[in-house]
Parts: sequence; C-alpha cells; structure tokens
Amino acid sequence: MTEQTTFSAGAAPGALPVVGHALQMMRHPVNFMASLSAHGDLVEIKIGPTTAYVPTHPELLRHVLTNDRIFDKGGVFYDRARDIAGNGLVTCPFADHRRQRRLMQSAFTRGRLKRYAEAMHAEIEVTASRWQDGMVVDAFQEMYGMALRTVGRTLYSTPVSPELAAKVERSFDVVLNGLFRQMFLPASIRRLPLPSQRRYKSNLNFLHETTQQLIDDYRSSDTERDDLLAALIASRDDDGDRLADKEIHDQVITVMAAGTETVASTLTWVFYLLSQHPEIEAALYDEIDTVLDGRAPQWDDLPNLSLADRIISETLRLHPPAWLFTRLTAAPTELAGRQLPTGSTVVFSPAAVAQYEDAFDNPKKFDPDRWLPDRIAPASRHAYVPFGTGARKCIGDLYARTEATLGLATILGRWRVTCEPGMDIRPVPLATVYHPRRLRLRLDARTPRRMTSAVPAPAGGDAT
Ligand code: HEM
Repeated sequence: MTEQTTFSAGAAPGALPVVGHALQMMRHPVNFMASLSAHGDLVEIKIGPTTAYVPTHPELLRHVLTNDRIFDKGGVFYDRARDIAGNGLVTCPFADHRRQRRLMQSAFTRGRLKRYAEAMHAEIEVTASRWQDGMVVDAFQEMYGMALRTVGRTLYSTPVSPELAAKVERSFDVVLNGLFRQMFLPASIRRLPLPSQRRYKSNLNFLHETTQQLIDDYRSSDTERDDLLAALIASRDDDGDRLADKEIHDQVITVMAAGTETVASTLTWVFYLLSQHPEIEAALYDEIDTVLDGRAPQWDDLPNLSLADRIISETLRLHPPAWLFTRLTAAPTELAGRQLPTGSTVVFSPAAVAQYEDAFDNPKKFDPDRWLPDRIAPASRHAYVPFGTGARKCIGDLYARTEATLGLATILGRWRVTCEPGMDIRPVPLATVYHPRRLRLRLDARTPRRMTSAVPAPAGGDAT
C-alpha cells in the first residue's frame, strides 16, 4: 500500500451513549479531528450510534481515497447529502461516478474558468461596492451571500429577480445548515412533523422546484449562453452520451451546495488569520497594490498574486471548511490491521491529517510561506487534502481558489478590513461547514498605494 507497512489502530475516548462523540464534534470539529492521531493511525469514533473509523495517517487516508471502488460514497454524511444533491457528482456511488465526472469535466476546464472569472469578478464587485466607509458587517454572512451569488452567476448568466435570488439564498441557508443536524438525528425524529423538519423540507422543495424551472427555461429558449449550466446541458462524451435532465438538476444543486459555504468559510478564516498576523497582512496589501496598481484583478493576475494564494492554501490547511465526509465499505477489507466488514463507515477528514508532525514543521503555526515551491516537501502534499484526493477530488478546486483570490484582492484593494473586538471564533455548532460564530469586520475605504517596486518579498508568520 504505502512506504509505511504497519499502522496502529485505536479508539477515541469519551464516547457517550446514544450521541457518541457528537458533543466533541459540535464543540470544535477541527480540534477533535486533529486530536485523534494521539490514539492511532486509524481511530474508532462514534457518530451518534454509528461506529466510524478515521484514518489519521496521511498514507492510510490516501489508501482510502484512492480506492473508491471499496471505500464508496455512503454513510451518515452522504445519506443526508443525497436528500439535497440527489445522485449528483459529489454524492453518486462509484458505479455512476466515472461517467458523470467525464461529462462534468468540460464545464470546469481552464478555458471555462477564465470566462467564469469575469462573472465572478463582476459579482464580487457588486458586494464590495455596496459597502460604505466605516461599515461593520458579519464576515461569514457577507462572504456567504457573495459566494452564493457568484456561483449562481457563473452557473446561470441570465439575471433573476432580486426577490427570487434572496429567496434562494435563504433556502440554501436553511438547507445547508440543516444537513448536519439531519445527520445526527435518528430517523424516527427526522420523520416527526416538527417545525424545524417542516422548514427544512419546504425550503428543500423550493430549491428543487426553482432549479427545475431554471433548467426548463434554458431548454425552451434559443439564447446562446456561455455559462456553467449551458456547458452541462451541451456536454457529450466520446460516445455521444449526455447528462439526463434529472442529472443536470442534481449537478446544479451540487455545484451550488458544494461551492458556496466552503468558499465563504475560507475567506472568513483568511480575514481572521490576517488580523492575528499583521506582518503578513501588510505584505498582502503590498502585493495587491503592486500587482494591481489600483485596478480590478483579473484571471491573468492570479499567478502574480502568489502570497494571496499561499495564504489561502495555509488557511485551508488550518481551517478546512469541509471537515467530515463518509465512505461505506463495498466489500470486506482490511485497514490498519482491522478487518472491516462490508458496510463499515470510514470518515475522511482533512483536519485529521493536516497537522501531521512528520509532514509540517511547527504544524500549528500559520505560515503561508511553507507553500513556497522550494519549501514544499512531498510529505506535506500527502497530508494536505482540503479538496480530497484521487478520483473523487474536488472538481471545483481551481474554481474555488480563483474565486477566493479574486475576492480577497478585490476586497483588500478597496477596503482596509479590521476585525471588530468581541469576536468568538468557536465554530458554529453543527454547521455543515466549519466557520466562526461571530466575526465582524469593519470596512474603511482605502486608496491603494501606487507601487513602483517589484512584487514584494514573501512573508513568514510566527503564531497561529
Ligand atoms: C474552498 C472550497 C472548497 C473545498 C474546501 C472543497 C472541498 C471538497 C472536498 C474535500 C471534496 C471531496 C469529498 C469527498 O471525497 O468525499 C469535494 C468534492 C467536490 N466538490 Fe468541492 N470544495 C470546494 C469548492 C468547490 C466548488 C467551488 C465547487 C463547484 C463549483 C465544488 C464542487 C465539488 C464537486 C462537484 C465535488 C465532487 C467531485 C467528485 O466526486 O468527482 N467544490 N470538494
């Protein structure tokens, strides 16, 4: 399997009857996952009543993620995610995956991303120009709205009414926030007609109906479009196979769900980490001013915004927004000496390996420069999986990096962003995507410094 042939197995202490480790996961999912390596390379935990195995050694995790025939999509997370995204690319089993991925790939080529970057930038500008000097905003809510409208605009270039856009935004908020609650609730409670359950279901229905309406409108109109939905509808593989209507529907919901909170959380944590590392923050402002000289960022600027890119990479390592996924074994298999029968749950958490000591010097330190090309060790690449790896690796990784970099450069080009006192960075309990409870940003208009020097020297940080 790997360079290391023997792996240790253990169990996490502190599981309570019925809820298992849910409380620890609610309190601080990333710290909980990062703490597991102390108990072995493969650690048994309880998600509610379900026993699950978490690989905490990068090689073991890689083995799981690259053997998607055995470690198939399924288990508590994906069972609930299928309520939302049906049989889309994120949720579909191995049997459907290769075909779907081939058909989706043409919507995510570099050429297409370059065109989406224009739509992304236009939408980010709308958000950044709505703000006023001295205004204070909630970081996650603001980034969430921006990311949802951005992915909406790249998917669907035809303008929709502000009322519909606002309703879609609210519904996604309810549904995405409900996913983990649904995951921890036993089926008997999920079936009860509680107000929270009714709200979840009615918002989910609204999203499904609206998505279908948008696809029907596309099909019935002759207008030529150059967006993600048009690419999905037009996609054919070498045999002329295409995505069926239901599959397109599921892919639209998948892309909206997978591409919104993740990017919003990344940017929110970036603002927090910059506030704790003023020297890195100053170097980033310098980079943005030098590269852009006061103008708006574009696709071609991305290679020059390299500190911004390293800051995003390092933020994703320390604060991976998507922190828990599940697999179900499709056949009996062995992992770290344990015999896992068919139907065993295995957890993939980027946080469980992201602070692996053999891979990263001083792993708790926020150090964007560890991603400088001459400093990246192969071991760090292995332990760095915020986008997953193998055949099921995130199809939107470049999309997300493009949006996050354009977002950061646009916002900091125009605004001096400071975190307001009274922040509470404990994660929102049971949020699907990991983000702080309370982080408010003060926005002061700034005039970018006109720069004449070359791109600034890379910066290093000292503490998390
Ligand atoms: C910072 C932002 C993002 C993070 C951290 C992230 C993370 C991930 C991870 C970890 C996976 C693998 C899940 C697994 O193995 O079970 C994944 C898959 C996926 N992501 Fe993302 N994602 C991000 C943004 C996006 C965006 C912007 C899109 C679309 C526009 C997207 C679409 C998808 C899809 C469709 C898959 C399934 C790929 C497959 O199974 O072939 N993601 N993502």
